[in-house]
Amino acid sequence: MLTDTQKIKLIKAGICAPSADNSQPWLYGWEGNDVLLLFLDESLSGEATDSTFVLSDLAVGAVIESIVLEAMTIGYHGEVELFPNGDGKPFDIAQIKFSQSNSGNDSELSLANCIPARCTDRRFPFTGVVDDRMLSDIQDVVNDSEHGLIGFNQNQDILNIIPTIAKAEQVRFESQQLHQEIFKTVVFNREHSPTGMNLNVLGIKWFETLGFKLLSAWPVMQVLNALGASKQIANKSVVLPIKQSPALLLLTTSAQSRKSIVNSGRQMQRVWLKCTEMGLSVQIYAAPGVLSLIKPNVGKNQLETLSAVESDLNNLTASLAKGRGLLFFRIGFIAGAIEKTGRRAQSSFEK
Ligand SMILES: Cc1cc2nc3c(=O)[nH]c(=O)nc-3n(C[C@H](O)[C@H](O)[C@H](O)COP(=O)(O)O)c2cc1C
Repeated sequence: MLTDTQKIKLIKAGICAPSADNSQPWLYGWEGNDVLLLFLDESLSGEATDSTFVLSDLAVGAVIESIVLEAMTIGYHGEVELFPNGDGKPFDIAQIKFSQSNSGNDSELSLANCIPARCTDRRFPFTGVVDDRMLSDIQDVVNDSEHGLIGFNQNQDILNIIPTIAKAEQVRFESQQLHQEIFKTVVFNREHSPTGMNLNVLGIKWFETLGFKLLSAWPVMQVLNALGASKQIANKSVVLPIKQSPALLLLTTSAQSRKSIVNSGRQMQRVWLKCTEMGLSVQIYAAPGVLSLIKPNVGKNQLETLSAVESDLNNLTASLAKGRGLLFFRIGFIAGAIEKTGRRAQSSFEK
């Protein structure tokens, strides 16, 4: 039987997990002492690009993986059942039954130890070498047959992929709906914030603050897009950072049901934790895989761009027969500490 202290330890591990725009879109409840129920927070999920719950499901998948790994550190196995109440209860994501077990091996325990340190790093350049052996070590943590991880560490391969990621990133600033969704989560100061992302976390320099604030107004963004603003943003957030990174990873999935996407979130977290263990910094790029999958309600031009992104991704994965490309990870080494995003208080996650 889990003690109260152990239960808190598990929930705290879940709270550390990543979520798109730091939305933290989940809630929990205990059924007795050994069954944990996880839900999507209806007020923080299912809107706009999350209308089919892809982003929230990925986030809750990461929460589940963190909790299951953390349970191993206290001698428990977590048996996960996804959507335990069926399709009619789309917000009831998982039930995890805990039982005492010594199944946690050293490599899983080592991933668990990295849960608090894992974070997003948007700085660049990332340096160092990520050789084939390191890529293979990262690929080895993927433990679900529906998923694969492709590693790219050759300069030309990385250069070939950049336009695909940049095109998708550009779309985020060319559609009013996507643009507003991004800026809704920006905290326009440099204070620590329990939700969203502040200017330091986003890597916005002091001299860029005013310009960034102006871009948050859609009419301004629209006018500046005519002058190439969205392309400039993609250049700064995708082209330059990725050109200056020693490797890229692409998480792939062969199925896209909600269960599969929650499992993609679990695999995302495992890969991210492994990179953290290896001292690698990570930035995720979700736009190419996720936007081309969900086909959001955007203009005709943007939909055409997303179709082109989708066929680029298919070409990339077809030759490697690994399913559909879902998430890119930019990885490499960079010295110094970064400012991390905040989290809400634990009590706010109780259903
Ligand atoms: C499904 C998902 C998609 C994400 N997409 C992006 C992205 O496209 N670009 C980016 O810079 N960060 C992305 N992130 C990182 C989140 O913004 C980040 O996890 C969140 O702000 C919490 O910060 P942390 O990762 O440092 O804990 C994504 C995270 C998740 C889970």
